[in-house]
Amino acid sequence: MGKTLKDTLLGTLVHGEEVLEDIRVLRKVSQDKITEGNEADARIAPLHAKVLHLVVSAIIDTGKNAKVIRLSGTEGYLPPFEAGQYINLFTEIDGVRTSRPYSISSSPRQRGYYEITVARSACGFVSDYLLDEVKVGDAFTANGPAGVFRYQPVFHSKKSLFLAGGSGITPFLSMTREVLEAHLDRDIVLLYGCRNEQAALYHEELGAYAEAYPDFRYHLVISDNVSGWTGETGFLDGAHITRLVPDYKERTCYICGPQVMNEFCQRELEALGVPEKRIRRELFGACKNIEKEAGWPAELTGGEVFHVTVGNRTIEALANEPILVALERAGIRVNVCCRSGECSLCRVKLVAGKVFLSKGMMLRKADEQYGYIHSCKAYPISDVSILL
Ligand SMILES: Cc1cc2nc3c(=O)[nH]c(=O)nc-3n(C[C@H](O)[C@H](O)[C@H](O)COP(=O)(O)OP(=O)(O)OC[C@H]3O[C@@H](n4cnc5c(N)ncnc54)[C@H](O)[C@@H]3O)c2cc1C
Ligand code: FES
Repeated sequence: MGKTLKDTLLGTLVHGEEVLEDIRVLRKVSQDKITEGNEADARIAPLHAKVLHLVVSAIIDTGKNAKVIRLSGTEGYLPPFEAGQYINLFTEIDGVRTSRPYSISSSPRQRGYYEITVARSACGFVSDYLLDEVKVGDAFTANGPAGVFRYQPVFHSKKSLFLAGGSGITPFLSMTREVLEAHLDRDIVLLYGCRNEQAALYHEELGAYAEAYPDFRYHLVISDNVSGWTGETGFLDGAHITRLVPDYKERTCYICGPQVMNEFCQRELEALGVPEKRIRRELFGACKNIEKEAGWPAELTGGEVFHVTVGNRTIEALANEPILVALERAGIRVNVCCRSGECSLCRVKLVAGKVFLSKGMMLRKADEQYGYIHSCKAYPISDVSILL
């Protein structure tokens, strides 16, 4: 066979002949591998399991309206994860199969189990179930570990600023534990906004870390007016950042907390001149009060019931609930993972009708062009027809 242009160019390079030889050997070996079967698949499967089979091995009450649920693998093995990632836990409550993502709060160096920390949520559904009903020995399935809210050494500065609110502390706990346990070369400042000291998850552990490790600083900022509290007060904002973290412009900033806090902190950082590429935000699920989001149709209260037609079935859906929830209530299964508009797994095609798309939905251009939407972030504002 004659030489290709690529071969000719490679041949002119120093060591080019060796590279060409490597390519020839690789081609030969890969041919052989193909005939051997799916060895690559067999190796990849345990690292990216389609379904995790988990059992509750311990429950620890934090005494702060939140519990740590320790989940072990029923097959004695759990895939590795990166600190900051989450699992999407499936539940069946009163006949409704649904799921919720939870950040893994344990360290990735601990491979025997994953711990999630579930906080009580106003008008909660799955969180109430996990906090009040679940016991040691209960079995669950989950998908993940997933998510991009993590430290990426190629892009991110070694200096980090963590801005946490409420239960949004959980991914930071995993990141902090990993860095400190492994003595990684990172410098972290954590500002944690909470109502009061009693509500601050892991406050004592974080305080102890700050005393023991000079490269980890921690400040709790409380918003309630509490007599006797001598620490930081108010809502976590730009003034706290400039005063407590004067080198904030050298840091990669990570935000995780309730949606209002996420958006507020992002604006504060932008006002301080932190470029967008230095700000990482975790998504914390569907919007609680979608009727209050900018662009919501003024004539709708959110309590309206519309019809969603899927194939030959028509089901009822509340305007203020994502279409995904209506499908789950009706027992219609949709692939799902982040429930925050990021992973695309829940995409459906909108054939007819109108939906309100909540902000934060990361729709691919092609999906947008062909009428796909993410059902976890799409709210029916008329009768609609969709294709799964
Ligand atoms: C990446 C990520 C990580 C997260 N990490 C954590 C964490 O570490 N800790 C934590 O506490 N939270 C975490 N969350 C939030 C968590 O996923 C849940 O949203 C939270 O626990 C509250 O769940 P909930 O079901 O109680 O309430 P919501 O998620 O607010 O759900 C309530 C909704 O459930 C639906 N619902 C109510 N009743 C029914 C019914 N009978 N049938 C069907 N649907 C019904 C309704 O739409 C209602 O509005 C995370 C979220 C994300 C996206
Ligand atoms: S579940 Fe990830 S985009 Fe909807």
